Amino acid sequence: MKKDFLTFAELSPQELQFVLGLSAKFKKRRKKMAPASHLRMRTLALLFQKQSTRTRLSFEVAIRELGGESVTLSMSELQLGRGETPEDTAAVLSRLVHGIIARVNSHEELVRLASASSVPVINGLSDRFHPAQILADLLTLQERKKRLRGLKVAWVGDGNNVCNSWLYGAALSGIDFVVAAPRDYRPLEQAVREAKSIGKSTGGTITILEDPIEAVRDADCVVTDTFVSMGFESDREKRLSVLMPKYTVSEELMSHAKRDAIFEHCMPAHRGEEVTSGVIDGPQSVVLDQAENRLHTAKGLLCLVLLGKKAQAIARSL
Ligand code: CP
Ligand code: NVA
Repeated sequence: MKKDFLTFAELSPQELQFVLGLSAKFKKRRKKMAPASHLRMRTLALLFQKQSTRTRLSFEVAIRELGGESVTLSMSELQLGRGETPEDTAAVLSRLVHGIIARVNSHEELVRLASASSVPVINGLSDRFHPAQILADLLTLQERKKRLRGLKVAWVGDGNNVCNSWLYGAALSGIDFVVAAPRDYRPLEQAVREAKSIGKSTGGTITILEDPIEAVRDADCVVTDTFVSMGFESDREKRLSVLMPKYTVSEELMSHAKRDAIFEHCMPAHRGEEVTSGVIDGPQSVVLDQAENRLHTAKGLLCLVLLGKKAQAIARSL
């Protein structure tokens, strides 16, 4: 059966550990500039309904460095953009390429694409989930703290697509994940419920609060993201009035976390809104490591979803 990656919940704890380990090996290996051919003769289609810097580049470069090819198309270039159904698009792409990475406005459209596709579909961000980002965030956290299990991660601000995928990533890793968000901006209830249930077997816990100071207390990592995600621009004034300044990650808020806590943000960032420049440009910030780790984790993920068992042989060979 083909393996999609749409929310993050598709991974088992073991698969997640495997992808992170393989990604770390790819990261070390990159310095050697040795050519790889793991994706030789494989082509992936990258479809973008919204702008992207990191997701597009990290997947394109990852595919290229693994010896594969990619074709990137914006919606305006695709018949999908003028009414062809996701089902027809997926069926046709399945005959032409070996995998699909799609950034879409509506998660439902991605689910329709994945259901009709016989090749793996990776979510490059939807309005509800951004799982590829969380692989990079977890690798960065693991690099800094040398473990994931038992860490406390505090999400502060909008319980958005990134937060929804973090819930699964944290639960699968045995992390204690605490969200501080205003009532109307909480993460998806279904994701909270499912993450709590995953946590029962991994030791991870999920807590949803309103108070950012309580959430951040003794945290090993504080995470936030924009208060105005793509597609929510018309709601900007209302969002900023509810979220600012209470949920802005400032030096003062960071002072309630552990002294050696790190700060994560998937970027693009809006200094003065969800985070102060002092924090994102300061010594606790690991945002550029996260951005770089998008590349290494894209490689790990691509191997898992496209190569199945062969990925284990690759991991052994690195
Ligand atoms: N973090 C992230 O997904 O960035 P892009 O929107 O630039 O792809
Ligand atoms: N939550 C943000 C993430 C951008 C990478 C958005 O959806 O716009």
